[in-house]
Amino acid sequence: MNASPGEEQAGRTAAIVPAAGRGERLGPGAPKALRTLGGIPMLVHAVRALASSRVIDLVVVAAPEESLDAVTAMLGEHSFAADVTVVAGGDTRQDSVARALISLPADIDIVLVHDAARPLVPEQVVTAVVAAVSAGHPAVVPALPIVDTVKEVDEEELVVCTVDRDRLRAVQTPQGFDRTVLQRAHAESDLGMTDDAGLVEALGIPVLVVPGHEEALKVTRPFDLIVAEAIVARRRASGVL
Ligand code: CTP
Ligand code: MG
Repeated sequence: MNASPGEEQAGRTAAIVPAAGRGERLGPGAPKALRTLGGIPMLVHAVRALASSRVIDLVVVAAPEESLDAVTAMLGEHSFAADVTVVAGGDTRQDSVARALISLPADIDIVLVHDAARPLVPEQVVTAVVAAVSAGHPAVVPALPIVDTVKEVDEEELVVCTVDRDRLRAVQTPQGFDRTVLQRAHAESDLGMTDDAGLVEALGIPVLVVPGHEEALKVTRPFDLIVAEAIVARRRASGVL
């Protein structure tokens, strides 16, 4: 049974970090999660951001199968304010999340899913998501309004219409879920989705949006690395990192 909004849940919180992608859009080099920002692997930044929020008890990383040992050893070189385990990821993001999900201990009630590709998510985004799930929302996503004008086009790149952007949101991670809901969504949906909330939506379960943050940007292309490096440099200059 899900708690209704307002009803507090007891139990522990885990964060799954899908980090098994190849980072093809970033270009040649190490797997994306192992590429560095300010000399520190993106995956370490991401795990640190989750653990230092103090609202996460356990972080489960889904690593590329062939770099399982390397990732485990690399994470072992750092200390985190939460337990950290590593499992082998799958062929798609959804598979990687599913593999981590089945490895969770029984006493976990709330599960966050956070992309290693969003290494710099600010603590307040993590705590806001956990707070909303704890308050009884079965699924919670951080998101930002869209700043660009959005147009739909046809196959010939001719504009079909201009979309009303007021009700559009660009969705980020961590996404937070009641554990039972996320497990059901993964078990019952055979849709290929780019996020976990999409699977929950397909079940007709409401998904709440809370404010995201620009610094929770997803590192996808080389330009994003430049922005992320600048954020790290600014945080260091102000003594935050
Ligand atoms: N991911 C994963 N397992 C996969 C594919 C992706 O765990 N089989 C993870 C990535 O490591 C990343 C997150 O899902 O943290 C979001 O994916 P994306 O930004 O697309 O990263 P990549 O798949 O690595 O990049 P690309 O699509 O450019 O290859
Ligand atoms: Mg990908």
